[in-house]
Amino acid sequence: MTSSSLLLSLLLLLASSAAGLATAARDDDASEHGLTHIHIYLHEILSGPNATTIAVTQSPRGGNATFGRIGVLDLEVRDGSDPKSSELLGRYQGMFAFAGLVSPPSGLLTTVNFVFTAGEHDGSTLAVLGSIPSFEDSFERAVVGGTGAFRMARGYCVTTAVANPTPVSVVYEVDLFVKMDA
Ligand SMILES: *[C@@H]1O[C@H](CO)[C@@H](O)[C@H](O)[C@H]1NC(C)=O
Ligand SMILES: *[C@@H]1O[C@H](CO)[C@@H](O)[C@H](O)[C@H]1NC(C)=O
Repeated sequence: MTSSSLLLSLLLLLASSAAGLATAARDDDASEHGLTHIHIYLHEILSGPNATTIAVTQSPRGGNATFGRIGVLDLEVRDGSDPKSSELLGRYQGMFAFAGLVSPPSGLLTTVNFVFTAGEHDGSTLAVLGSIPSFEDSFERAVVGGTGAFRMARGYCVTTAVANPTPVSVVYEVDLFVKMDA
């Protein structure tokens, strides 16, 4: 191994252990506040035959207007950012609507259900509601309920785009913090 690739490996190792420490720290903070921390990844394909996200209506205002554009999405929920080596945990299914007449705020409203079909939360769902101001930064939405192990859930969901494995796909890191007590 050359010294530069050794350095790179060390940096990558440090970065991944720092990420691991950050996740562990978030878990500690979460359990202190009676919150359950769920760390997952969303895999989105924007176009082509396997698109996970499609616009169903365009804006009746025409031109470049977005107000009134409505669509549906059904993304894979995985335990990692690599689509090949990670485990499929469920689906992220819902709707989005461009509900903003002015910008900012963007008014890109989403109503989405995390449906777990494998892993620790198999059989449970979490309902998330909120708008997305910008995909360039992390955005936060409310967890408004759940079913199964997540009955009476309340909390928040932080989403950050982390990678573009292909020109038409995006991977998002998601941290859900939920509390089940009524
Ligand atoms: C779409 O998905 C199918 C089934 O997984 C796969 O065989 C095909 O290669 C995919 N097409 C594209 C363009 O990625
Ligand atoms: C849409 O936006 C593009 C790029 O900003 C602009 O060139 C074009 O004229 C706009 N079209 C309409 C119909 O407003």
